[in-house]
Amino acid sequence: MPGNETQLSRKMKVALTYNLKKEIGEAEGLPEDFYAECDDPETVEAVRDALRERHGEVIMVEADEDAFEKFRRERPDIVFNMAEGVWGDSRESQIPSILEMLRIPYTGSNPLTLAMCLNKARAKEILSYYGIPTARFIVARDASFEIEKYLSFPMIVKPMLEGSSKGIKNDSIVRDVPSLRKKVAEVLEEYAQPALVEEYLEGREFTVALVGNGSSLKALPIVEINYSALPAGVNPIYSYEAKWILDTPDAPLDIFTCPADLNARLKSAIEAVSKDAFGALDVRDWCRIDVRLDSMGTPHIIELNPLPGILKDPKCNSCFPKAARAAGMSFTDMVNSVLDAARQRYGI
Ligand SMILES: Nc1ncnc2c1ncn2[C@@H]1O[C@H](COP(=O)(O)OP(=O)(O)OP(=O)(O)O)[C@@H](O)[C@H]1O
Ligand SMILES: [Mg+2]
Repeated sequence: MPGNETQLSRKMKVALTYNLKKEIGEAEGLPEDFYAECDDPETVEAVRDALRERHGEVIMVEADEDAFEKFRRERPDIVFNMAEGVWGDSRESQIPSILEMLRIPYTGSNPLTLAMCLNKARAKEILSYYGIPTARFIVARDASFEIEKYLSFPMIVKPMLEGSSKGIKNDSIVRDVPSLRKKVAEVLEEYAQPALVEEYLEGREFTVALVGNGSSLKALPIVEINYSALPAGVNPIYSYEAKWILDTPDAPLDIFTCPADLNARLKSAIEAVSKDAFGALDVRDWCRIDVRLDSMGTPHIIELNPLPGILKDPKCNSCFPKAARAAGMSFTDMVNSVLDAARQRYGI
């Protein structure tokens, strides 16, 4: 009975775990975008309020060194995980690992999937194994490596282990050997990690929000990135500048169309490649998947975001909430649909 369901869910002890953005001190020597993946207090509060609307009081756990003790003490029935982690190549896996150790259910993907998607090269290797289209690529660990022997120009150079457009700048597209060498050296030095160099996909770009699991996995309306909204001379990529500098809540860029204007065949091809990628990487409950067409119009996977950003304010141009709004879901519906997918998976 629906009434019983509400009563049961009210009794559930729900926790929310997150990493807050911090100020960077001058002495720390960190890149200006170091905390770009972490959340603002408004986003964390919006998710807390959405969970609270359906489940009453929410236990708040900042994903810091005290998190383990707090989870152990509180023992929530389920945790909504939006913690991106701060330190290390497996930072997104740390909280899920703690929760598995404590046998506490949580939303979203497991430690292995989170680590593999954060490492874009590993994710692309798996996609390639399953024959899911993704741009040809090389991992460069040395600035003098002759990548041009293996890949064709134009190429795009990015840090191998980042998100939120960290290290993807307007000049990340390279068209000749000197700029390729320079850009690879810059990534190696500034981000202290290998550079992922990919052949550039020149077609239309989309992002697909998925919710659910198995046969109930659903694609929300597809978002298209409109590069015509960028100022003249700016490269058509969703770069750090495009995301955080040219587009602000005070002067939002009209950079997204949702639902994207697509014929039925292309829409189903984009949804199918996204769901295939979700399955291949063993993603759970939710994910935002970036897709771009090659010169022949074939959709390719750029990357998977199993912990997608969810900024509530429509002016912040956050894709997952935008797709949810286009599907007629409120922010509360969206957050709780992820929680419900996890509950169903665990049978809670
Ligand atoms: N091979 C490629 N061909 C064309 N454009 C690309 C390619 N790889 C990346 N891009 C462009 O760069 C943007 C950022 O790349 P990517 O999605 O890998 O970075 P990210 O920082 O992880 O993104 P997010 O903010 O979604 O986490 C893409 O949205 C796309 O515009
Ligand atoms: Mg992306």
